[in-house]
Amino acid sequence: MTTFDPAAIRHHFPALAQTDDHGQPLIFFDGPGGTQVPDAVIAAMSDYLTRRNANTHAPFTTSQRSDATLSAAHHALADLLNAPSPDEIVFGPNMTTLTFALSRALARTWQPGDEVIVTRLDHDANIAPWLALAEQGIVIRWLDFDPADCTLRLDQLADLLNKRTRLLAVGGASNAVGTINPLAEMARQAHEAGALMFVDAVHLAPHAAIDVQAIGCDFLACSVYKFYGPHVGALWGRYDLLDRLPAYKVRPSDPQPPGKWMTGTQNHEGLAGAVAAVDYLAGVGETYGTAFAAAFPGFAGRRLHLKTGLDAIAAFERDLFTQLLDGLDAIPGARVYGITDRQRLAERTPTAAIRLGDAGSGGRWHPLDLCARLGRHGIASYAGHMYALAVIERLGPLEEGGVLRIGLSHYNTAAEVDTLLNLFEDLG
Ligand SMILES: Cc1ncc(COP(=O)(O)O)c(C=O)c1O
Repeated sequence: MTTFDPAAIRHHFPALAQTDDHGQPLIFFDGPGGTQVPDAVIAAMSDYLTRRNANTHAPFTTSQRSDATLSAAHHALADLLNAPSPDEIVFGPNMTTLTFALSRALARTWQPGDEVIVTRLDHDANIAPWLALAEQGIVIRWLDFDPADCTLRLDQLADLLNKRTRLLAVGGASNAVGTINPLAEMARQAHEAGALMFVDAVHLAPHAAIDVQAIGCDFLACSVYKFYGPHVGALWGRYDLLDRLPAYKVRPSDPQPPGKWMTGTQNHEGLAGAVAAVDYLAGVGETYGTAFAAAFPGFAGRRLHLKTGLDAIAAFERDLFTQLLDGLDAIPGARVYGITDRQRLAERTPTAAIRLGDAGSGGRWHPLDLCARLGRHGIASYAGHMYALAVIERLGPLEEGGVLRIGLSHYNTAAEVDTLLNLFEDLG
């Protein structure tokens, strides 16, 4: 185990101390759907609405404070993603909306017959915005994954890339089966073919330090509500591309990035919370990340603390995930999709897609029933396809209700995992 202290971590999250209406403690294994927030995030949002609430760009106190809040949010996300400039961070309501906006803008520069590659391992938010372009003659090609360990078939990527490929759209990590994709290698291959690369980092962001410069991608989107913040989406793009591309915008709005991409008035209180969420993660690094600092020469201040914080979180979550896998191994008929080799856990997030029961028939326990049963025990989880439609279709059990998803977060404990495993044993 790491020196990570879950009790001290949990102390920051008021929601974790709740019970249900019968006094039963609540257990949150729904992090991939959305995480709970630390008190600093709640305080920042409340402070925004109390002291800073206004529209932007006006010469009075609350408006100036709002301007400062937005500026702080651009800097915070730039630090989180190691973006060269805060002007490369675009905010919006969520990743899906930002991705549709980007796909439409990119398509204004493409010709019928141009190609986009999507993967079967992705959430539909990184498929449907590209599929929609087929209407205007863009050809969509699919990169498959190996159902045995749910890793992308990189060996097939070279065959899909060609001189008509304009973009490779890939997830940082699968929100269904947890696989972390080899992004830097994929960006290298995409660029070699003259294509751009878009990354959906929504599921990766809470579990790993993201570095857009090290990945070498062109765009990367994430959602703050998945990493302990409020419901806000963020898109990073290379400045030259954000500058050059024709965004859909109103005429009076800023013609430069990032303003030209940020349609309408933003969720200011959400952006105040986003700053606090990033600062929270940096605080984890300051407290628990010292042992990881040597891996990041050249980084200092918040950028360093974010990297070490997320490394500390990942190390803790891997220990917890090992406990979950070991426990599931001992339950006859339990099946976990994706990478389960304990030596390869760095290639995945602690998000398990599970079937329980008679493996031969695809699982005796219908995932939705299982999910509802867990809910009655105060345990939050998800079941079905979780919008990772292509993944579950490819794996097979969609007609039988998909999978049960247990997503571990750094605020979960070994005792909570034991509670889940004991329930599974009783059912198994
Ligand atoms: C991997 C992944 N991509 C995209 C999304 C969509 O994110 P948003 O709700 O911000 O549009 C989700 C949401 O669950 C996700 O898990």
